[in-house]
Amino acid sequence: MNLTLNVWRQKNRGDAGRFERYDATDISEHMSFLEMLDVVNERLMAKGEEPIHFDHDCREGICGACGLVINGDPHGPQNATTTCQLHMREFTDGDAITIEPWRADAFPVIRDLVVDRQAFDRIVQAGGYVSVRTGSARDANEIPIPKEAADLAMDAASCIGCGACVAACPNASASLFVAAKIAHLGLLPQGQPERKERARRMVAQMDAEGFGHCTNHYECEGACPKEISVEFIARMNREFLLAMLVSRTELASRGGR
Ligand code: SF4
Ligand code: FES
Repeated sequence: MNLTLNVWRQKNRGDAGRFERYDATDISEHMSFLEMLDVVNERLMAKGEEPIHFDHDCREGICGACGLVINGDPHGPQNATTTCQLHMREFTDGDAITIEPWRADAFPVIRDLVVDRQAFDRIVQAGGYVSVRTGSARDANEIPIPKEAADLAMDAASCIGCGACVAACPNASASLFVAAKIAHLGLLPQGQPERKERARRMVAQMDAEGFGHCTNHYECEGACPKEISVEFIARMNREFLLAMLVSRTELASRGGR
């Protein structure tokens, strides 16, 4: 198939950036989207031109490194699919495809289609951990976990931290990502010691990073390659409110205001 690509090129964070047009000819429908970009880059380099910079690692939908806005859709037109798992058969011969990086102030462009997502790392550092005793490992059967809690925690834990939820949200909110991280630990017995602090600290860090607030557009759920439900955002809001109420009550009982 033959395609026309309109690709966002930006030298660095300070560069204004612009779209550039490339012909992608003789592309196999069996290629993944990233393999198609590899072919375009090999041809650019053969001509002595700068290749298109894009992020990737596992190329099997599990690491969250890849992520492009393709024709306006984070991760492209196929539901529940990361960019690396998207295949060219989803497109038609002769298509024009617009490729952009995630657009959010909290994800500044490093180069072309690569954005800096360290804001997510700092949110996880703020509370995405559990206290464990050192020493020999406990027997796995020693901690009973209700099936419903285990299933829900597993759903939340499937978040790969790709950032598509932020890119899809008109407010550039990171609520779905943060909600998934709070839930996957907060639902399990091992996550109880830091449960309140986790919600308070991770939400505070999300705000500090400059992500917007959730106003129920639900675009995040639609863009999420792991189909994480917005119900986790409601759970996060409840956990956060509870954490704030408890800390105020504790402060008042100590004579504070
Ligand atoms: S919630 Fe979904 S879209 Fe957002 S970072 Fe996690 S996997 Fe990606
Ligand atoms: S490269 Fe790892 S999820 Fe796409």
